[in-house]
Amino acid sequence: MTASRTSTAERERAEAKLRVEELREQLNYHAYRYHVLDDPEISDAEYDELMRELVELEERFPELVTPDSPTQRVGVTPTDLFAPVQHRAVMLSLDNAFSPDELRAWAARIERAVGPDVRYACELKIDGVAVALTYERGSLVRGATRGDGRVGEDITANVRTVRSVPQRLTVDPPPELIEVRGEIYLPVPAFERLNEELTGSGQRPFANPRNAAAGSLRQKDPKVTASRPLSLWVHSFGWAEGVRFESHSGFLEWCRNARLPVPPTSETVDDLDGVLRYLRHWEEHRHSVDWEIDGVVVKVDQTVYQDELGATSHAPRWAIAYKFPPEERTTVLRRIDVHTGRTGVVTPFAVLEPVHVGGVTVTTATLHNEDEVRRKDVREGDTVIVRRAGDVIPEVVGPVLSKRTKGARPWRFPRTCGSCGTPLVRREGEAYWRCPNKRACPSQNVEWLSAFSSRGAMDIEGLGYKTGSLLLDLGWVADPGDVYSLTREQLAQLPGFKEKRIRNLLEAIEASKDRPIWRLLVGLNIPHVGTTTAQILARAFGSIDRLASATREEIDAVEGIGPEIASSVVEWFRDERNRALLDRLRRAGVRMVDEAPSARREAGPLAGKTIVLTGGLESMSRDEATRLAEEAGAHVASSVSKKTDFVVAGASPGSKYDKAVQLGIEIVDEREFLRRLGGMPGEGEA
Ligand code: IVH
Repeated sequence: MTASRTSTAERERAEAKLRVEELREQLNYHAYRYHVLDDPEISDAEYDELMRELVELEERFPELVTPDSPTQRVGVTPTDLFAPVQHRAVMLSLDNAFSPDELRAWAARIERAVGPDVRYACELKIDGVAVALTYERGSLVRGATRGDGRVGEDITANVRTVRSVPQRLTVDPPPELIEVRGEIYLPVPAFERLNEELTGSGQRPFANPRNAAAGSLRQKDPKVTASRPLSLWVHSFGWAEGVRFESHSGFLEWCRNARLPVPPTSETVDDLDGVLRYLRHWEEHRHSVDWEIDGVVVKVDQTVYQDELGATSHAPRWAIAYKFPPEERTTVLRRIDVHTGRTGVVTPFAVLEPVHVGGVTVTTATLHNEDEVRRKDVREGDTVIVRRAGDVIPEVVGPVLSKRTKGARPWRFPRTCGSCGTPLVRREGEAYWRCPNKRACPSQNVEWLSAFSSRGAMDIEGLGYKTGSLLLDLGWVADPGDVYSLTREQLAQLPGFKEKRIRNLLEAIEASKDRPIWRLLVGLNIPHVGTTTAQILARAFGSIDRLASATREEIDAVEGIGPEIASSVVEWFRDERNRALLDRLRRAGVRMVDEAPSARREAGPLAGKTIVLTGGLESMSRDEATRLAEEAGAHVASSVSKKTDFVVAGASPGSKYDKAVQLGIEIVDEREFLRRLGGMPGEGEA
């Protein structure tokens, strides 16, 4: 099979296959960030866009659909934080419509299938945390999160603290069993108060009300949950024994009688026109309710029709979510300020006349960099359009030119650092101005210190932004190396530091000495080294010293590391001050080596090899194969690249096989893999 002979169709299919794999990986990752970590990196709109592309590709090439595709399931595996709970019926998701036309097309399909006398139940799409509440003979017995849709987490104790969740249903006689589903949310005013409190005590605020609700619900201590004014709206049911509902509206009515909270905004209409009226109304009045909504959900009201329409593996066919477009508002840009971050990059941001947009009050919005300000031509005093889409940081879209005042002048990027006064530099080819005053710029230092102790790095609880800047101001700490010599006596002088808080902070500092070295690498503030890169480097080198003495070429040769990162790492370790910092950390007892790799690993038969597994193996599972390969010293990568040494292909290999063929990477079968592992002699070999 040579490339020149493959037909266009085949090539298209091969390309689609690669893209499908890529999309699935991205979607799984972002779903994990969103559902498990409550820390999304992309907006819902961007996520939906990726999902749409995947759905389209799978529709065009149905043979590429696999049972584990993100289109086929509803979430991701839950964390182990709370006991797992199996849902009686899968908690499905909803398909989306992004325009009235898409909604029309959906309704047309429905009416073709079940006839024109269908009624539609219209509701707001609540931007909260999905929960399932089980009542046995009228008593609340369990609350669970959605998890991956099949298995969620038991959050009964926390759910019980939510005031609008009834502990008992007020229907007589109560049904044998009913599991209702809904969203737990934090009202917007409560969200804003909570964030003020958090920032006031030096903690990081939540990005939006949904994250705040998720964070409040996923607390080990239900007392913390109880202190947050969470609330519930019920919108569907998962299981019912001893009660039947003829329609969705009938179910909602039943809930109201049972004192299960149902939003007063739901409406049942007779036709599509009614749906579109509802939609237009709520798009315009979305902030007249005090909880965040991100669209409207339309459901077929009659249960018989719902049953007839059924569901796909991830969503019912009888319901659809219409997503509102991101919201925009105008306000006055008071001035443009700049902020110097931990790596010295200086970012301009807009200081705004407070404006309510996308459900929250926005007072600042990012302007990214100098070129962006110039491109948008926003000037101080301008009336500007501000946009906020769900989770995303608010941004300035552009000025309203008709409202520009006469004297408004183009903004000039400051020539010196706002924190230390050092002249800024902008290197050829870079978009950013930087403050070159490494180590002595207060703004860089405080950002560095709080990044070092953050949850994603050394995880020192109690050493946040506020305490950090205090310690820097007092001159007790100049960089993270000094954290380990702080004394009880010093801490006792800080405002608000009583016995317990001092002990906790000292214990947290002590505990941070024993973190895996990737966390230290993240905390060291090496340009271009984030979590993923740090983990790759830690795995490849195993110790800070080995990394410090590696050459650019050695680092560049590691799978997943490019020349830019390699240069940055080498440069960082070459700096005298950084070496001195490492020495201090070492003397303080901070771990510099990961658990010693076994001798076999270093001298193993596959030492230094990067391999990729694809397809099913007969003699072992994928996990086992990975473990054995790693024990033999190999790095098992998830995708094929030029740096791959060889690919192990089992039964029905995936696109990684095609990629290996394309790149001319060696492909071996299971037998040969076992031989290379040293587990079985190959044919004709001793
Ligand atoms: S009905 C079988 N109604 O949005 C369909 N869901 O993006 C069950 N959501 O999983 C859901 N408001 O957690 C329904 N009025 C509403 C909703 C709603 C928010 C959530 C729900 C669902 C997700 C899908």
